[in-house]
Amino acid sequence: MTGNQRIHTQAEPYKIKVVEPIKMTTIEYRSKCIEEAGYNTFLLRSEDVYIDLLTDSGTSAMSDNQWAGMMLGDEAYAGSRNFYELEKAVRDVYGFKYIVPTHQGRGAEHIMSQILINKGDYVPGNMFFTTTRLHQELAGGKFVDVIVDEAHIPSNEFPFKGNVDMDKMQKLVDDVGADKIPYVSLEGCVNMAGGQPFSMANLQDLKEFCDKHNILIMLDATRMIENSYFIQQREKGYGHKSVAQILREICDLSDGCAMSSKKDHLVNIGGFLAMNDEEFFRKAKAMVVVYEGLHTYGGMAGRDMEAVARGIREATETDDHVAARIRQTQYLGNRLKDEGVPIILPIGSHAVFLDAKAILPHVDQDEYPAQRLAAELYVESGVRSMERGNVSSGRDPETGKNRRPNLELVRLTIPRRVYTNLHMDVAAEGVFAMMERRNSIKGLKFTYEPEMLRFFQGRFEPVDLV
Ligand code: F0G
Repeated sequence: MTGNQRIHTQAEPYKIKVVEPIKMTTIEYRSKCIEEAGYNTFLLRSEDVYIDLLTDSGTSAMSDNQWAGMMLGDEAYAGSRNFYELEKAVRDVYGFKYIVPTHQGRGAEHIMSQILINKGDYVPGNMFFTTTRLHQELAGGKFVDVIVDEAHIPSNEFPFKGNVDMDKMQKLVDDVGADKIPYVSLEGCVNMAGGQPFSMANLQDLKEFCDKHNILIMLDATRMIENSYFIQQREKGYGHKSVAQILREICDLSDGCAMSSKKDHLVNIGGFLAMNDEEFFRKAKAMVVVYEGLHTYGGMAGRDMEAVARGIREATETDDHVAARIRQTQYLGNRLKDEGVPIILPIGSHAVFLDAKAILPHVDQDEYPAQRLAAELYVESGVRSMERGNVSSGRDPETGKNRRPNLELVRLTIPRRVYTNLHMDVAAEGVFAMMERRNSIKGLKFTYEPEMLRFFQGRFEPVDLV
């Protein structure tokens, strides 16, 4: 903010000190690259990508303050100073009593699932996330989707598509009994739904329900700062509160969280599990030494913990960072929307999602339209995106069939503080160019299909290959 009412443009709250050159490539070159990568954008080499919108995970630009903190890494095996900085930052900002560091989010999900879930349990959540659900299943649990129906409809503009449907919660309790439900997994800015927030009012209802039935609320706090910003912007009664205050209110209504710091905390690696219950903490500490590392580093170097600690404070000490971050996502989303490209609405926090079913209605979902669209966008423009549809959803473990989710999406994910809006313009124009030839774009079939998390390493070939 300039403090001058006649200046309306809001620019980024930082200036650029270090840059990383990127390579320009040709359509012919990229066609070869995607074929070699088995039409899977995860298998491209990063140096062959012009604008990398694969993920916002671990791809942020750190600040000078975070880099300076890296030089203060205390690499002691036990009791690193940086661990205590991290613990203090989590206590101050999130308010949880106990923290167990992990190398990234899925490390925390693993430990949490193994401790809280018994075989035969049900774990309701506001839509699945790939690694989260897998860890629930590996622990013997069954994920149950309790997100509101609106979340499954790309064009529905409900402002809180991340909300839990309380009727679905009640039905689950009626069907299986509350004692079979250890916790609700509540994600902020629900990734697979398009980066959609839940409201505070919804969390308050959920808390009342869960208290009554003795069910814990465990947050997937990965993008909870961004969720808090949407509450500030959209929910009545929150406009005057800071993002930090709203975040704290969310955490105070829950029992703990699994966190991938690679998103909200502006770092390249890191995460943690946090909770208020001492017994849960004791069990998590016992497990972290088996799978991650000692309980005062959990798979992170001391310098990484320092960068997370500083990132937590930086992302929340004012609202400027998160506002600018979401403004950029809205910028790209609005460019696509204004040209009539079918995208998930409302535009989310971390990414813009193309509706592949609407763009390629002639491609059956079992021929993976979103996977093909991501590959074609790369060839067209050098922009790397990610499939979030039938491939990511995987097969139902009971039937072995593709899950064929309602949402068949291509995610253009915006790293934090990395690209300018001109990069967003190039990405938008890449999508426009692809839209022009969409009628001739066909589907894919697997040539190699991994059993778990198949989207990472699966390989494909076009069904139209002669
Ligand atoms: N929960 C959510 C909502 C996530 O988006 C992710 C990761 C995780 C948990 C797991 O965390 O990667 O640190 O182990 N999402 C990345 C993405 C991979 O691209 O959306 P992790």
